[in-house]
Amino acid sequence: MKDRKLEIHYTEYASLDEMDPQDRNLVEAAFRAQRTSYAPYSHFNVGAAVLMENGAIVTGSNQENAASPSGLCAERTAMFAAGAQYPGIPMVAIAIVGGPDFGICDSPATPCGACRQVMAEYQKIGKRPMAVIMTGGGAIWKFDRVDDVLPFIFDSI
Ligand code: THU
Repeated sequence: MKDRKLEIHYTEYASLDEMDPQDRNLVEAAFRAQRTSYAPYSHFNVGAAVLMENGAIVTGSNQENAASPSGLCAERTAMFAAGAQYPGIPMVAIAIVGGPDFGICDSPATPCGACRQVMAEYQKIGKRPMAVIMTGGGAIWKFDRVDDVLPFIFDSI
């Protein structure tokens, strides 16, 4: 028997000013995407922006529906659009911004499990690490790879 430990590494920034320009630009795109959120039921508005290896940025926001399971998170809206617009192009990073009533929570907005699983698959087919940036009013967290937000990734392909 072995007692094992798992360590997760991430970088915390106090504000956008501390980030490198490429990451800051991606977070700013996620902020703009948040404005397009359609969330009349939860009033929780989320924006996401995906940076592609070719430099393109694809954004998405959460889109809700009266038949609630028909809605979709911002992250998957952005990643599915990116996959559809740029098939075969790896995703380098995704930035997430979220909060109630188009605002932002103090602690960073963290993606749901289903979105993490979708990130994991795009990272795998992209054959390179995909960074995950979670934005809050009081801190911004950057994880260098999806493995750091979804340990023991399910992998059947
Ligand atoms: N939501 C996202 O867009 N991303 C997440 O990672 C978590 C939750 C959305 C789904 C729903 O429209 C609203 O936030 C409240 O759960």
